[in-house]
Amino acid sequence: MKSIEDVDVTGKRVLIRLDTDVPVLNGKVKDDSRLRASLHTLHLFKKAKQIVMMGHMGRPTSPNTKFSLKPVAKKLSSLLKAEVHLVDYRNVPDKKYVLIENLRFYPGEKEKSKEFAKQLAQHGDVYVNDAFADCHREDASISLVPKYVPSFAGLHVINQVINIAHIIEKAKHPFILVIGGAKIDKLLALEKLVNQVDGVLIGGAMMYPFLKAMHFGTGKYECSTEDVAKAKKLLKQTHIMLPVDVMLDTKRAVNAHKIPPDRAAFDIGPETIKHYTQILRQAKTIIWNGPLGVAEKKAFAKGTNAVARVMAQSKGLTLVGGGDTTAAIKPSLKKFTFYSTAGGAFLDLLAGKKLPGLEVLR
Ligand code: 3PG
Repeated sequence: MKSIEDVDVTGKRVLIRLDTDVPVLNGKVKDDSRLRASLHTLHLFKKAKQIVMMGHMGRPTSPNTKFSLKPVAKKLSSLLKAEVHLVDYRNVPDKKYVLIENLRFYPGEKEKSKEFAKQLAQHGDVYVNDAFADCHREDASISLVPKYVPSFAGLHVINQVINIAHIIEKAKHPFILVIGGAKIDKLLALEKLVNQVDGVLIGGAMMYPFLKAMHFGTGKYECSTEDVAKAKKLLKQTHIMLPVDVMLDTKRAVNAHKIPPDRAAFDIGPETIKHYTQILRQAKTIIWNGPLGVAEKKAFAKGTNAVARVMAQSKGLTLVGGGDTTAAIKPSLKKFTFYSTAGGAFLDLLAGKKLPGLEVLR
């Protein structure tokens, strides 16, 4: 990959794809790690004529104030100590720092529209991808814009790729993967990863398709037929472990096979915490993605905190990835071998998949 570090951007317009998919609470960015991760790259552009930033937040399919990048523009203004103007991609003013509104407000982004990509590309003399968390997506701003303008990898992307590869090379056994979170589409990466590890500990919403595949109830959670089929296939692997008990939204612990139809599991239960902790204590490499419960609520963060604790104390290699996961365990992060800002992209890279956002920069 060509690094932007080697390019003289003096007097040029830099179009940069950032990881703007950050948690927002009451109109404010709750965790700015993904934005801070790109500051080294952004500081390379002091002599550029203009810096046009772009990114997405959440999964909206049309304009929706809930997913506006307004809080991100505000946060970037304070991090860059310069005003960042939030703009429409069709109308970019002549200001030093601008941020294009959530790309997913426009169907062209997800539909990989060439027209949309060309319109974005015209805002830069060079394109930089520093959104490692989105490199597994084929979205227009990731996989198409680089085809229309000279393109480079940002420092954050390069740092993430090198470090993750380095850790995988050094991985020792027992090698345990902990996987949770709300995004069930990670099941695909799991299909590949499961063969590389000695154990997979499941938590979060990820457990539901497995429970359903075993004909147990999933409470209020509805699983898609495809996810259940994938889980069924994965269950043939004996080293996939599921919670034996869960903490319900009512704060009552129950057997994981007995989630009442009108309730949801908000965390793994105390027996599961004991069991998972024992396994993790024996591990020489631990990779983790996705909180094991609704970790932003203290009462349901016990499973997530227990995994963070045992990983922080581990003498083996510990690698954690994902915006929600790293936000949930921020104080322990320094004790891990490495942490990635990405969730799905991190898992796909570990699984040996080719990431469209990186391939296009080669
Ligand atoms: C992430 O948080 O993993 C990235 O921002 C990608 O988001 P997506 O899964 O909605 O494409």
